Formats: sequence, C-alpha cells, structure tokens
Amino acid sequence: MKIGAPKELAKGEARVALTPESALQLQKLGHDCFIEAGAGTLAGFDDQAYRDAGVSVVEGAESLWQTVDTVIKVREPSDAETQHLREGQTLISFFWPGQNEALLEKCKAQGATVMAMDMVPRISRAQKMDALSSMANIAGYRSVIEAGNNFGRFFTGQVTAAGKVPPAKVLVIGAGVAGLSAIGTATSLGAVVRAFDVRPEVAEQIESMGAEFLFLDFEDSQDGAETGGYASPSSPEFREKQLECFREQAPDIDIVITTALIPGKPAPKLWLEDMVKAMKPGSVIIDLAAEKGGNCDLTKPDERVVSDNGVVVVGYTDFPSRMATQASLLYATNVRHMLTDLTPEKDGQIVHDMEDDVIRGATVTHQGEITFPPPPPKVKAIAAAKPKPKEKEPTPEEKKAAELATFKAQTKRQATLLGVGGAIMLLLGQVAPASFMQHFIVFALACFVGFQVIWNVSHSLHTPLMAVTNAISGIIILGAVLQIGSGSGVVTLMASISVLIATINIVGGFLVTRRMLAMFQKS
Ligand code: NAI
Repeated sequence: MKIGAPKELAKGEARVALTPESALQLQKLGHDCFIEAGAGTLAGFDDQAYRDAGVSVVEGAESLWQTVDTVIKVREPSDAETQHLREGQTLISFFWPGQNEALLEKCKAQGATVMAMDMVPRISRAQKMDALSSMANIAGYRSVIEAGNNFGRFFTGQVTAAGKVPPAKVLVIGAGVAGLSAIGTATSLGAVVRAFDVRPEVAEQIESMGAEFLFLDFEDSQDGAETGGYASPSSPEFREKQLECFREQAPDIDIVITTALIPGKPAPKLWLEDMVKAMKPGSVIIDLAAEKGGNCDLTKPDERVVSDNGVVVVGYTDFPSRMATQASLLYATNVRHMLTDLTPEKDGQIVHDMEDDVIRGATVTHQGEITFPPPPPKVKAIAAAKPKPKEKEPTPEEKKAAELATFKAQTKRQATLLGVGGAIMLLLGQVAPASFMQHFIVFALACFVGFQVIWNVSHSLHTPLMAVTNAISGIIILGAVLQIGSGSGVVTLMASISVLIATINIVGGFLVTRRMLAMFQKS
C-alpha cells in the first residue's frame, strides 16, 4: 500500500505524521511511503532526510492525496482536504468525531474510511497507539517549562551566599497523563508539588512521583473505571469541597497547572477569579484545558494574559506543536503502530478487521457508513482495580466449628503417624540390638517433637528460631567432641561430620541473625 503524509494546513501546526524513522518501519511492513515536499521542515525533518529513508517526496498536496491509498495526518482534514478523499482511501488523523459531525458526514459521502487517533480505546494493548497520551505527556512537560519561563524565581530551593531561596510551590489540578507528566517535570526541577484529582486511585501515582496528594474528606469520590479510564462530572457538594480546598491553597501556591477535563464536556471551572486574586503577584497559571474553555475563569485560549494583581495566565492550546520534533516522533510512532495492526501479515496489505477492539474503536467511517460512536471495547479500560469486596466475617459458632474440624483432622493425622511409627519401631526391635534401639527411640522422638515445635512457629519467626538452634548445635558439637577420640573409625567419622554440620549451622545462624538485626538498625 502507498502511505503518505501531506503538509499540515492548520495555522501554527508544526507537527508531521510521518518521520524518516517511522517511514523505515512502515517499509518493513511492505508499504511504500510518500511525503509532501516541505511537510516535515517545521518539525526538523527536511526532504533529504526523508529521501535518505527511502520516502518519495511529492510536490503539492493534491498529487500526494491522489497518489496514496492511506493518508496519515496530525489534524483533522480541512474542507479542501476532504474533497481529495476518494472511495476506498483511508485517512488516519486526529478527528474529534463527537464535535465534527459535519466533517464526518462529508468523509462518509466521499466513501473513505476514517480512523480517528483520538478514538483509540484506552486499553493496555492500545497504549502504543495512544496518541492522545503521547501529546498530553508533551503538553504536561511543556506546561512546566512554560511556567518556568513566565515565573521570576527558581523552581528549586537554594541556600546561597546572597540569601536563601525557597522552592516554588506548584499545584497540579487533574492528574491524567498531562498532569502526571507535569508533576514529574516539576518535581525533577526541585519544586514542592501538590496535586489533586477527582479519581482517588491516582493518589498512589502522584505520591510515587514525589508530590503530595490533596485528599478531600468526601464520601462520594469518583471512579474513572466506569467511564473507560476517564472521570465523570462531580456532584455540586463535591465541587464545593474541592473549591474550598483550592481557595485555601491559592495564597500559598506560586504555579498552578490545570489539566482537568471530562471527555465530551466543556472544561470544569476550578480556578475561579477570587482564587487568582488571592495569589501572589508574579504567580503563574498554565491552563492546559484552554481549548475546551479552560479550568480558570481568566483563561483566554491561545493567549497569555496578566491579571490586575500580576498573575500570568497562559492559555496556549498548541503545546505539543511547540515541541514539534518530539511530538512528531511520538505521533508518527503511534500511527506506525496502528498501521502495524492494520497489516497483520506484514505484506503491505491493509486488513481492516472490525472485530478488533482498537481498529473498531478508532474507525469513524467505513464502507460508506458512519461507525461512530463505537460499541464499548470488549476488554475493560485501564483503570485502578476496585478493592476486592471484604469476605463475610464468620460468626463465633462458625469459627468454633471450623477450629474443631481442624483440631480433629490434626489429631487423626498425628495418631496415624504415631501408629505407623510405633509399628516400625516394633519391627525394628525384632532385629536390632537393645543399645541401638534405646538411642534410636530417643532420636525418633526428638525428630517428632522438634518437627512439631518448629512447624507451629510462624514463618516470620523462623529466622530468630534459627538463632536459637545454635544452642542445640553447640550441644551436638560437645557430644561429637567427646566421641571423636573413640577408637572406632566409624564413630570418629560420624563425630567429625557432626562437628562440621553443626559448625555450618552455628556460623550461618550468626550471619543470618546479624543481617536480621541490621534491618532494624538506623543507618
Ligand atoms: P485525561 O483525561 O487523562 O486527564 C484529565 C484529568 O482531569 C483526569 O485525571 C480527570 O480525573 C481529571 N479531572 C476531571 N475533572 C476534574 C475535576 N473537577 N477536578 C480535578 N480533576 C479532574 O486528559 P489528559 O490527556 O491528561 O489531558 C489533560 C488536558 O490537557 C486536557 O484538557 C487536554 O485537552 C489538554 N491538552 C492540552 C494541550 C495543549 O496544548 N494545551 C495538549 C494536550 C492536551
């Protein structure tokens, strides 16, 4: 199949859907790759780099659209681009079908198959195609860099000859992909980071990245698992609690990064005007949800505004494009993985398997039909597992009955063991000398009692128990030393072996005990 990427037409869009690196991989799948001349320039890939990777460079968008069977793009197609689509052609790009119904109709009318990269379901297998996450990761990283650019102080605290510098305090609202990326970047720059999300299951992830999770004392917390890994709108009571918490934080926080979003809904307003007013002059707010109206009251999409009290509010909506090389590399890899799934035989033939969860989920028009919205994926979305329901506590009667049953079973087993052991002794007594039998019975009883005692000691106490057995090993050595001088070669040999084994036990016991004690010692 012929796969090609045109130049992006959207204003300011610097990304490209095909990189020389991804082209090499696509060729291994049996595809031929094409690129419109100059399409990768803004992302740092010139035409020669593509030619070196075996890509055919085509002059002009029209001839590219006409040449290829599958068009790969970053942004949804413009009206003019949609006109180029033809029956049997496939388009893979971000599409936002929920908000682009007219565009969806046009693509259907053209008879093309459209796969929306933003519709890839969030299931484990599809993570490598999750372009939303790739872009959100970049946006989160860039938001911190942008905040640093607008903030007049260091992120990290310092003690210098000229005075002490406190660390910047960063609050991240919404710990999805972008939020977690921002948390990771801000902590690695040395800031004190706090974070909040309506999904309590992300608390662990936030804390593992070195940030503090702001817990709300509220019963009705959300569960993203029910909505495919995304949050659902919160209740008015929850929202009030949340705003109260943010109001408390506002005077203390230097940088706020908001990423809170509920798919298909306008961004919830979470950082209100009074909170901006309560912030110190020079503080910075980066609103990643600007495209969907913003989480902050003062956000203006694509603009940087300064409030009356000197707080900078950044509402840029093109963070990934501002890091076009990185964004193109990741996006092109996501698209390449999608094409790998579409080419199961690696023979350059695309097989559009609508039974496949990922392919089905991403396909929005196919064979002259609109196939959006897709049915829910058969595999459950990635989300924290719900805590297992607690097992029912047994009643005291049930407990007693269970204990009695265990005791009976144990007694039965022991009685059988004693019976079998006794019979063996009797049989042995018929042939062995009396002096041997005396020692042998003591030995057998010692084994039995020792086993019973050790078996009932809990596993956590086995190490200290080993230390105690050193004492027994000491007695063995004493006995062996007394016997070692005996005239019989067999006795000397046995005594020597006993000394050796008991010594190993004693030395090992000491080493283990030392290690165990070291675990409880403060370094
Ligand atoms: P996501 O859906 O993974 O994360 C959103 C997070 O916000 C979720 O963890 C959700 O639980 C949380 N959330 C929802 N309502 C909340 C509330 N009321 N309070 C606190 N948390 C709440 O989304 P992702 O991929 O992390 O993207 C985050 C935002 O960044 C989105 O708005 C996205 O459009 C935007 N974005 C912006 C870019 C830019 O250039 N400005 C580029 C890429 C993404």
